[in-house]
Amino acid sequence: MKFLLETYGCQMNRADADRIRTDLSNSGFTEIEKNEIPDIIILLSCSVRQHAVERLHGRLWSLANIKRIKPELKFVLVGCLAQEKKSDLFDKYPFLNLVIGTDQINLVADLIIRNYNGLYTVQHNENIPLNSFKLTRSDPFKADIPIMRGCNNFCTYCIVPYVRGRERSRCKEEIIKEIDNLPETTKEILLLGQNVNSYIFDNLSFSELLDLISKKYNNLRIRFLTSHPKDLDLKTIEVMASNDNICKHIHLPIQSASDRILELMNRKYTFSEFDKKVEQLKKFIPSISLSTDIIAGFPSETEEDFLKSLNSISHFGFCSAFTYKYSPRNGTKASEFINQIPEEIRKERLKRLIQEVEKEVILQTQKQIGKKSKVLLEGKSHYGNTCMGRDEANRVIHIKNVENLIGEVIEVKITSSSGWNLYGDLIPE
Ligand code: SAH
Ligand code: SF4
Ligand code: F3S
Repeated sequence: MKFLLETYGCQMNRADADRIRTDLSNSGFTEIEKNEIPDIIILLSCSVRQHAVERLHGRLWSLANIKRIKPELKFVLVGCLAQEKKSDLFDKYPFLNLVIGTDQINLVADLIIRNYNGLYTVQHNENIPLNSFKLTRSDPFKADIPIMRGCNNFCTYCIVPYVRGRERSRCKEEIIKEIDNLPETTKEILLLGQNVNSYIFDNLSFSELLDLISKKYNNLRIRFLTSHPKDLDLKTIEVMASNDNICKHIHLPIQSASDRILELMNRKYTFSEFDKKVEQLKKFIPSISLSTDIIAGFPSETEEDFLKSLNSISHFGFCSAFTYKYSPRNGTKASEFINQIPEEIRKERLKRLIQEVEKEVILQTQKQIGKKSKVLLEGKSHYGNTCMGRDEANRVIHIKNVENLIGEVIEVKITSSSGWNLYGDLIPE
């Protein structure tokens, strides 16, 4: 039996996909090659914004055509949209066989084998055991390591706490076991959680876990995602500063730079508190690069509020920023706020955000010229005669004559830039 596994949404879904792929492979299923027709289709869905839901909608209907020529095809929807909409999905997509919630990841293969049809979701209240053995991962050099699931923050715009449940941290032993079982080709790990800073298991805090992992695996490059600005503590910053193998980059979503909007979003920090955190980061780690998420057109956002967000991009010098137009989600508090901003204004503000980010990213990219950089070489560039890799800030760097070093972390001197891309030369050891 052959399966097609497609992943939408964030890294949490990507990490869940690794587990589903592994369980299916261990049960004798194989992933389809290009142009093959699958026996089973599994989609890992996302419902964080309407745009994500619509993309998935289009894909579902186009894949449904396969069922016309192959009626025995099994169609499975997993993940956040499945958890949110449950059996309503069978009415909307009559070709679906199985809808599985976010906390039943470890049951997907089993339910498929048992030929289960219908809905399979339960309340998320337990710490689900995650497979820590050898996983069939999609990337040979980089591995996502979930350290916690769920979120307790209830930012008023966000559906994640409803579809992923409350925060549950994974025990240290399981995390260590998973890292120990990584293939030898692995060079980088990403410690994952909706809010990694609130990791806590048997009194072990995130900064302690990070310190422990970076020291124990000093041959691996380490990243972590996502940090909530209210919870990022000094100890974590110190651990980042004192361990060479932790990337000097942090993703710190600001969401808005207006205190009034931040309060309505329930973010629990002000602009100046965010600013102080960044100052602290820069003091301990002068080479730190920052990326962020910003939402345009949150309910009641005025032009003045919006300009604060827009100006924050150059103020902080973000090396990259994910920008979104506010999307009302059913069941969230903000979707009931009365001052919803018209679509046209949200769109127009998003456009300005994107332009500003583009300008700043190019500026920050140019600033790298002449600097040394540690690059994980991932493979051949899509064009030209070079290989590409990523620096600590996740910037793409193209380098000549290094084919024999693919899969290694190399030192590079940056020589030039073009848009968001950088070019560099290997610094011989
Ligand atoms: N736990 C992470 C990721 C949450 S989802 C965090 O806290 O950063 C990723 C991003 O999607 C969020 O940071 C936010 O910028 C955006 N987002 C979430 N809900 C949204 C909504 N309803 N409309 C627009 N953007 C949203
Ligand atoms: Fe959503 Fe906020 Fe939790 Fe992030 S911290 S997942 S934005 S509720
Ligand atoms: Fe989407 Fe779920 Fe991630 S809603 S952003 S896939 S946690």
